[in-house]
Amino acid sequence: MFKKSRLRRLFRFWLAGILPIVITLSNGASLEFLTGSGALGFDGRGWWWEYPLRWVGILNPHDFTVVVKTLTLRPRQGNLRWYAPWRCVRLIPHGTVNAVGLTNPGIDWWIRTCYPRMRRMELRTIVSVFSETVEEAHQFAEKLRPLTLDAIEFNASCPNVEHCSTVSHNLAIGATLAGAGHPLILKVGYDQPYVELAQALEGVVEAVHAINAVPWRMVFPDKPSPLAKLGGGGVSGEPIRPMVREAVANLVRHTSLPVIAGGGIYSLSDLEALWDLGARAFAIGTLFLRAPWMPNRLVRAWRQRVAQRIRC
Ligand SMILES: Cc1cc2nc3c(=O)[nH]c(=O)nc-3n(C[C@H](O)[C@H](O)[C@H](O)COP(=O)(O)O)c2cc1C
Repeated sequence: MFKKSRLRRLFRFWLAGILPIVITLSNGASLEFLTGSGALGFDGRGWWWEYPLRWVGILNPHDFTVVVKTLTLRPRQGNLRWYAPWRCVRLIPHGTVNAVGLTNPGIDWWIRTCYPRMRRMELRTIVSVFSETVEEAHQFAEKLRPLTLDAIEFNASCPNVEHCSTVSHNLAIGATLAGAGHPLILKVGYDQPYVELAQALEGVVEAVHAINAVPWRMVFPDKPSPLAKLGGGGVSGEPIRPMVREAVANLVRHTSLPVIAGGGIYSLSDLEALWDLGARAFAIGTLFLRAPWMPNRLVRAWRQRVAQRIRC
């Protein structure tokens, strides 16, 4: 006769098999909590004003898979100036708006400067890339192939740059990036035909990340943006929560891809709501900006809750 406790253990084992609590990629990397691209800079150490929190252990990037701020093939000036970040990033009630426009020093700089540091720090790393053409995607793939990465995130959705968003164009870029031999994640935006895009890339990407910042005009159609001079910018944080939930529900319903949910995650109840909708990993962005001491606490609280549930 099986003892009750043995049966319970067997049941848990079976449940863990059919109901994954993290996303496992083809290279064995598992995704549970990610940093939203841009949240901890280009190398996971955070922005300069966050360094003291990291030094004292309040902000610990090791609790996350770090998604590097989006890189382009060549350096791109964008709108961010290191001495005046508020020029293109503003706090708004309960969220942020940004019009950074993909300021970055380019992939070669990142490989030379940040990649070795992230390896030394033993950070789980995802490189976010923005590619305008298939030729650029091919060059990215060549450069990224020799590196040790958890995945590449294909940023198909930056609200602050002009990009061609036809499904066939994104499919061609995705297929080329996948040639790097690393698992590929598709990051979609609410202002795109995101379900159609994800469906087209099934078999090319291993997960879909919803959503990027949402263009100001879609969130606040009747209010002028503080970044109107820079095109209005993209809104993040609490104001986009309903859109994130809608996108996650649609993607879970209409695609077979595992879904990473990101946008306005501030609390356990946000995680619960997204989990109930079918998301199996979470990305945290604005919370690092607004309350950088909170993300690690939230991860710990979630893990405790999951462990308690498994024990019960
Ligand atoms: C200042 C700032 C910079 C960002 N830069 C990027 C970026 O380079 N690439 C990207 O895919 N998303 C970028 N994002 C979007 C976030 O990664 C995230 O998808 C979005 O903000 C929604 O999540 P949140 O509400 O938790 O911030 C940026 C967001 C902010 C606020």
